[in-house]
Amino acid sequence: AKEHFHKWEVSYQFKSPDCFRKLAVTINGKTPGPMIDAQQGDTVVVEVKNSLLTENLAIHWHGIRQPGTYIYHAHYGMQRSAGLNGLIRVTVPDGIAEPFTYDFDRSVILNDWWHQSTYEQATGLASSILINGRGRFNCSVAGAGEVCNATNPECSPSVLTVVPGKTYRLRIASITSLSALNFEVEGHNMTVVEADGHYVRPFVVKNLNIYSGETYSVLITADRDPSRNYWIGVNVVARQPATPTGIAFLNYYPNHPRRSPPTATPPTGPVWNDTAYSIYQSVAVRAHPDHIHQPPAAADRTIILLNTQNKIDGHIRWSLNNVSFNFPHTPYLIALKEKLRDVFDESPAPETYDHNNYDMYSVASNPNSTIGTSIYRLEFNSTVDVILQNANTLTPNKSETHPWHLHGHDFWVLGYGSGKFDPETDPKGFNLVDPIMKNTVVLYPFGWTAIRFRADNPGVWAFHCHIESHFFMGMGAVFEEGVERVGELPDSIMGCEESNHLHEIDQWLF
Ligand code: C2O
Ligand code: CU
Repeated sequence: AKEHFHKWEVSYQFKSPDCFRKLAVTINGKTPGPMIDAQQGDTVVVEVKNSLLTENLAIHWHGIRQPGTYIYHAHYGMQRSAGLNGLIRVTVPDGIAEPFTYDFDRSVILNDWWHQSTYEQATGLASSILINGRGRFNCSVAGAGEVCNATNPECSPSVLTVVPGKTYRLRIASITSLSALNFEVEGHNMTVVEADGHYVRPFVVKNLNIYSGETYSVLITADRDPSRNYWIGVNVVARQPATPTGIAFLNYYPNHPRRSPPTATPPTGPVWNDTAYSIYQSVAVRAHPDHIHQPPAAADRTIILLNTQNKIDGHIRWSLNNVSFNFPHTPYLIALKEKLRDVFDESPAPETYDHNNYDMYSVASNPNSTIGTSIYRLEFNSTVDVILQNANTLTPNKSETHPWHLHGHDFWVLGYGSGKFDPETDPKGFNLVDPIMKNTVVLYPFGWTAIRFRADNPGVWAFHCHIESHFFMGMGAVFEEGVERVGELPDSIMGCEESNHLHEIDQWLF
């Protein structure tokens, strides 16, 4: 095993990824940041210098467990959407074969890019979709005093050059703040072979839905008419698209990448609200037959989480079982290890909701919820099922899509269903044969999603919607397991009274 050393300096820089100039959070002057490339078992050391001057910084190594494709991103404030993110590629050890073959390996990071964060995010009006950090904003609508230059080479679409006849593994990651995306290469089918670092029973798609926090590998063969280039098109799904198709070029060598642009219009993707199509793709993601990790046959505990949009003091919040989550200023790990009282509400977080009486198809008659800090304490090594139950939002006939991400674990995806989860009958339909393991899973409108995991990683772990604004508006929970097995905390995080220091650790403990 090798050791890889990275030195990163995080700073604000003016960038024009979609031709519009704005401050971005960068690593060594770049967004997305550098790819971390390692072989399974290697040690990666990243020395990070925070040059943001007035802000704390925390980086989350999203999902990292074993070989596969992962991401990293900031987990503090809105730094993730401000540009601090990148890809992690873990290759298999020498002499180990993967269950598929390809000639070349390429990465594709998808993002939605916002010029003035909050208002735009509330309305879903992303400024542009970035493919490997490049998008295209319509400069004619830029405001007075704003810098936008459509001919800036910084925002020319990215180009994926392929050699005719060769097969490419595309590692696709979505780091979006809000948008669910659909990725399509004009005229080329894709074979899905990996999801969140786990091998998938291969299946072919014309285009692929990808939600914030997810990663996939697909195989694509350059087997079409080589005399021209093709579009790569990325479209918003799951909410009414208000952002133009994100584009890049699939360039057949030796054509000129930009001088011979594709003739047809870019792919427009599936119908944005075709939930059945989306569920069909999610259900098709099964473990590869030679790489099945058998889930425990039954759960020791089932937690049902009703996802609702609520109001607290007139502000919109998101809640689980009518509690909108709020991180206390002192990290849970410190509070639990040092037995500090009054840091968080020690009564258990609610295990379920009023299942018999709640009408998930209507706007709640009382939309108010409460802020809470309580957590789920799990028995170490126990098997836990979590049922994510969707419901109507504050808008009649509307339920949203939420990509849920669990820190510190991979979980089995046992099933998706529509309507209200029935604890008596629905578990009979769980897939215990070949469920995929993931770290991010989608909850569809008016439906439910069931996951199972082993509480075998000592610590305190966040479970949250990967839509940045939803998380900040309370859409999260915290699981504790085996905290007594966590070693002594280093003095460096205990020795300071300053609350901003503690806040930094709070984020760092993700
Ligand atoms: Cu990529 Cu806590 O998330
Ligand atoms: Cu959400």
